[in-house]
Amino acid sequence: MRVLLTGGAGYIGSHTALVLLEQGHDVVVVDDLSNGNRIALDRVEELTGRSVTFVQADLTNTTATRVTLANTNFDAVVHFAGLKAVGESVEQPVRYYRTNLASTLTLLDIMAERQINTLVFSSSATVYGEPQTPLVAETHHTGVGLTNPYGWSKYMNEQIITDAAVARPDMSVVLLRYFNPVGAHPSGRIGEDPAGIPNNLLPFIAQVAVGRRDKLSVFGDDYDTPDGTGVRDYIHVMDLAEGHVAALNYASCGVQTYNLGSGVGTSVLEAVRAFEAVSNRPVPYQISPRRSGDLATVVADPRLAQEKLKWQTTRTFADACRDAWNWQSQNPAGYGETVRVVIGSPAATVERTLDDKAISTR
Ligand code: NAD
Ligand code: WQD
Repeated sequence: MRVLLTGGAGYIGSHTALVLLEQGHDVVVVDDLSNGNRIALDRVEELTGRSVTFVQADLTNTTATRVTLANTNFDAVVHFAGLKAVGESVEQPVRYYRTNLASTLTLLDIMAERQINTLVFSSSATVYGEPQTPLVAETHHTGVGLTNPYGWSKYMNEQIITDAAVARPDMSVVLLRYFNPVGAHPSGRIGEDPAGIPNNLLPFIAQVAVGRRDKLSVFGDDYDTPDGTGVRDYIHVMDLAEGHVAALNYASCGVQTYNLGSGVGTSVLEAVRAFEAVSNRPVPYQISPRRSGDLATVVADPRLAQEKLKWQTTRTFADACRDAWNWQSQNPAGYGETVRVVIGSPAATVERTLDDKAISTR
């Protein structure tokens, strides 16, 4: 297959590009680079020995995207592009709705015009709201009690794509509801490179371990969980990437929906200890108030994907921590440039990222 990855220069997209190339597929990436990085794709090419076709376009601009993609062929689409920061979506709802909905509308128009039928969409466990069962299955209700525009945009996207598939019965759609993606490619060459202060737990822990941040704030230790801290289903990004290839292989007419998770819950304090063990670095933390909108426990029931897609996670949370640490320690400033500032004697060198955060001192 020749697969178009929207948002393919981002975290999950770049890992999926790598797995698709390794399995012999061709990859075209369309991305506006608002949160992705061309270097990630250079490294995917270096790791696979294969080339990626890269097209820079803002998918919210339908006309420009149509023109930019006019001479590019593809048979299937994986739609990752969008904005994903929950807190930011509360502050900038219109921007989030515009980007996350208009991108999908552009894509659906172009797919219809060109008779492209296969679509895999990046949805999220956030569509379930507060889980009513210990393990969340795909049959759990969605769109109840969602607390932020990001979550609503995923819910609305699922509806829009489903309606488009009803109108075009030749379409084969797979909606993938990711739980908490973490980790990096084991080479340490590609990984998660959040802009500014990380919102998500594992990148924050990794930046504390590498010395870029002082300490972690643990958001609440009074939840109804074994140690009082929030429990999540962390899924290794390589397992997640493989899940997309399984979905592309299994797609057939109509709409199918799958959880991509491990079925295993890990608390915040367990995550801290696991990261300390693989990195051999301390991760200082303080207990802070709960973060607004957070839930106690969110863990997938992953059985449907196992049964239908013949896919399941094969990597542990410890594997994800090891690979995240490998990435973070090899690339303390992510894909960004690092400048060396000499303070006092050359022996006392402080490395700073271009946004001027000290990342290591020696
Ligand atoms: P990411 O920000 O690393 O990747 C998204 C990519 O989309 C970026 O490269 C960005 O430049 C691009 N993009 C954004 N707006 C665009 C536009 N208008 N036109 C073209 N490209 C645009 O995020 P990610 O973690 O790789 O997430 C990928 C998808 O998975 C997103 O849709 C996200 O909502 C979803 N998802 C992510 C998580 C997570 O925790 N990372 C969990 C569930 C679902
Ligand atoms: C995990 C746990 C926090 C940071 C979010 C989105 C979700 C999905 C994945 C896109 C929670 C705790 C975190 C910190 C902490 N994204 N935590 N200190 O909130 O489960 O899910 O990302 O679809 O939609 O909501 O992930 O990594 O932010 O938090 O104590 O500095 O870590 O309270 O218990 P979350 P997270």
